[in-house]
Amino acid sequence: MKGIILAGGAGTRLHPLTKITSKQLLPVYDRPMIYYPLQTLLDAQIREILIIVAPDRAGDFLRLLGSGKEFDAKFTYEIQDKPEGLAQAFLLGKTFIGDDNVTMILGDNIFLGNETFLLNAIRTFSQGARVFAKDVPDPERFGVVEFDAQMRARTIEEKPMRPKSNHAVTGLYIYDNSVVARVERQKPSARGELEITDLNNRYLKDNQLDVCIYDGFWLDTGTFDALLDAGIQVREHRKGLRAQ
Ligand code: G1P
Repeated sequence: MKGIILAGGAGTRLHPLTKITSKQLLPVYDRPMIYYPLQTLLDAQIREILIIVAPDRAGDFLRLLGSGKEFDAKFTYEIQDKPEGLAQAFLLGKTFIGDDNVTMILGDNIFLGNETFLLNAIRTFSQGARVFAKDVPDPERFGVVEFDAQMRARTIEEKPMRPKSNHAVTGLYIYDNSVVARVERQKPSARGELEITDLNNRYLKDNQLDVCIYDGFWLDTGTFDALLDAGIQVREHRKGLRAQ
């Protein structure tokens, strides 16, 4: 299993914080944001990791993370010239992925306190795709899973105005090696992006998408409130660990 952290994008929603740095380098309590998704991959024993970054920020990521030696891992870097969709990561990462399966995590997603669950989900994966849905109060900000009466996923809608459930698709995705060929065949959406939701719906249509319900702590830090909340939650989590 290889790993990808997608940390490209201009982060315009967080201006002026992101005018001179990447969103994924902003502090979340005592660490740069990207440390959290990185730790999620490391906890799952993924040691070969591709970090995809925006062109004018590449030097900062390299200075911060280096070769990976400090983390007992091997890091490779790839530049995303323009943010043309999350699924573009698999085209940029084609050589890196080679013949392996791949877990992708978004550089602004924070998962805390349920490492065993994710570790098992990654370890037991063999084919198709596996995504993680989390019950949230504001599903319209995310990809949202619609379930049938038997709680089988029926479809995923990207940022729907009227969400059909409260289950957001988190930014952690596990794919088999067919992901590269699938994205190569995929057409950009109306907004010109290779959508991760289109990719997941393709797997779903092929009966190859496993939607796991994740009940640990999860935050996408894409808004000012979520960013602040993430820092506070991380501090509380640390306190809890220290008290044990
Ligand atoms: C992206 C995906 C969305 C997913 C979210 C998770 O949205 O498009 O389906 O639910 O990540 O963080 P973005 O945060 O890029 O708007």
